[in-house]
Amino acid sequence: MNWWPRHAETAVAPSLLSADFAQLQLEIEGMSEAGADLFHLDVMDGHFVPNVTFGPFIVSAIRRCTDLLLDTHLMMTHPDRYVKAFAEAGADALTIHIEADCDVGATLAAIGDLGIRRGLSLNPDTDVADLQPYLSNLDLVLVMSVQPGFGGQSFQTGALDKVRRLVDWRGEQALSYAISMDGGVNNETAPACREAGADILVSGSHLFGAPDRGEAMARLRGTA
Ligand code: DX5
Ligand code: ZN
Repeated sequence: MNWWPRHAETAVAPSLLSADFAQLQLEIEGMSEAGADLFHLDVMDGHFVPNVTFGPFIVSAIRRCTDLLLDTHLMMTHPDRYVKAFAEAGADALTIHIEADCDVGATLAAIGDLGIRRGLSLNPDTDVADLQPYLSNLDLVLVMSVQPGFGGQSFQTGALDKVRRLVDWRGEQALSYAISMDGGVNNETAPACREAGADILVSGSHLFGAPDRGEAMARLRGTA
C-alpha cells in the first residue's frame, strides 16, 4: 500500500483531464505546490468509452513536467497493445479495465514485467467480486464512482460498498493493493470515501475548479 508517496492521510491524485492543456506545465506545477501526492492521467480510446483524450506522446510530455508518480488510467478496449508504449513514456502505474477486450491476467503480468505498478479498474455496473482472481497480483484497484468517459459527473454511492469489500479482502488475504476512487469526488463525497477506506482520491473538475487548490486538497484529505 505504500508505493506512492503517501501522507499520513488519504492521498489526493489530481486528474489532469480537467487541466488546461494549453498551460499544462503550469497546471502540474501548481498542483504539485498545492500538495498533490501523484497525478491521474485519463487515456480514452473512443471505443471503450465515447471520448478520446491522449496517448503515450502526451504522457511523455507530462513526465518531463513532474517527478510525482503518474497513475495512467487506460480506458481502452485493447490496453494490452499499448502497455509497453505507456511504460516507455514514463508511466509509473498502468491501470486497465476488467471489462477490456484482452487477457486481463496476462496484461497485468506484462505491466509488472515492465517494472511498473499494476492497476485494475471496474465500471459502476461491474461486480467487485469479479476482481477476486486478480487481487493478489495488483498494486492498485481503481473503483469507478462514475461511468468512465467524462469528468464532472455525479458520484455513484454504490462504489462505497465495493471499497469496503476490497478493504476486507485485503486484510483477510494479507494483500497490499492500494484502493483509489475515481469520479465525482468532492467535499460532499470525500468523507464517505475516506470512511469506506479509500487510500487515494482522484479528483478532476472539483480540484481544478477550486479557488484554492491547496485548501481543496486538505479538505479532500479531511485535514482542513
Ligand atoms: C472519468 C475519469 C476520471 C475523471 C474524474 O472517466 O476516469 O478520472 O477525470 O473527473 P471528476 O473528478 O470531474 O469526476
Ligand atoms: Zn480516471
